[in-house]
Amino acid sequence: MTKRVLLIVGGGIAAYKACELIRLCRKAGIEVKCVLTAGGQHFVTPMTLAALSENQVYTTLWDLKDEAEMGHIQLSREADLVVVAPATADLMAKMAAGIADDLATTLLLATDKPVLAAPAMNVRMWQHAATRRNVATLRSDGVTVLEPDEGPMACGEYGPGRLPEPEAILAAIQSQFSGQPELVESPSTGSGQAGERLRGKHILVTAGPTHEPIDPVRYIANRSSGRQGYAIAGALAALGAKVTLVSGPVALPTPPGVARVDIETAQEMANAVAQALPADAAVMVAAVGDWRAEAADQKIKKEGAAPPRLDLSENPDILAMLAKSPHRPGLVIGFAAETERVIEHATAKRERKGADWIVANDVSGDVMGGEANTVHLVTSGGVESWEKLPKDEVGRRLAERIADAL
Ligand code: C5P
Repeated sequence: MTKRVLLIVGGGIAAYKACELIRLCRKAGIEVKCVLTAGGQHFVTPMTLAALSENQVYTTLWDLKDEAEMGHIQLSREADLVVVAPATADLMAKMAAGIADDLATTLLLATDKPVLAAPAMNVRMWQHAATRRNVATLRSDGVTVLEPDEGPMACGEYGPGRLPEPEAILAAIQSQFSGQPELVESPSTGSGQAGERLRGKHILVTAGPTHEPIDPVRYIANRSSGRQGYAIAGALAALGAKVTLVSGPVALPTPPGVARVDIETAQEMANAVAQALPADAAVMVAAVGDWRAEAADQKIKKEGAAPPRLDLSENPDILAMLAKSPHRPGLVIGFAAETERVIEHATAKRERKGADWIVANDVSGDVMGGEANTVHLVTSGGVESWEKLPKDEVGRRLAERIADAL
């Protein structure tokens, strides 16, 4: 059956990307009806959206003809999914507060269908405590709020706040549909359907490097790209898990359906991991910096002075702490990046850190930052060596193994 999306287009420069989203949805066989806010009309016209969606576009609550023919309650309920893209800071604040002062917000309050929001705003607005609160409220109300992309913004600043690419929003829409029971074509088998096997499970994933500051402009880091951790987080979400991805600084888009928490230092990662508990499983893929420096408040000057000595202290071992904590997830998985005697070191690491499984990889080649990975899965039952695989495939296989174990 054709799936129907009610797309609410908010007022931001990213509204132009909603046009591409409509095109992609139509190509994927999804019917789209658009609601354009007053702000949105400053960026795209109702005519553009009508032409792309091949449907009437709704702009106001106060149109007698629209009300007589359709009615805003019916409009909010006849779709299978309500998508807000771009979801502006203002629109999300109103949604979180339950304000209904125009057509878009009234529909959002009246709907009985799942809501997916793709935020887009200036980085400071995204990071503001009010927006953080509103996003947390919306998520606890059951709204799927995608993480915005990071990068240069139309306003000239850099950071998280860009609308996710239309392809990523479409993937999130499709994963919402695949999570809906009516799309499951055959009765569930014992092992469950794709998109269902991890439904109801919360899984914590750490990924990427950490940055340990030396002064306001310099830091200690490592070569981790975050690709393997992101692939695992995406594969777990595709199996229906609620995934919290605690991520160091990387240049990767957030996988669809994943809630991402950005951190920089190991200590911030440790705090974010503690806050994300409880979880049914944890996959600690991050290349956490082992040491931190005593960061100088001001940039260390090089003129005349001898090179500074870095006084390093040890960072918390997040994996070991989690494995020994009273809130320990049922399944704790660590990674071991080794350059020699890979399996031997990984086996010892499993014991030492109290992990259930260790995924060991040989990083003596181009694994860090590369596309492929050769891993050995070390469990209490022994060692399983997988052939060299793309990181996405390693993610999918590991997600399946986690689903089996849970
Ligand atoms: O001891 P090593 O760094 O090789 O251990 C790697 C594993 O431990 C990875 O799963 C990594 O995410 C985790 N780890 C951690 N906190 C640290 C160091 C490593 O969680 N401070």
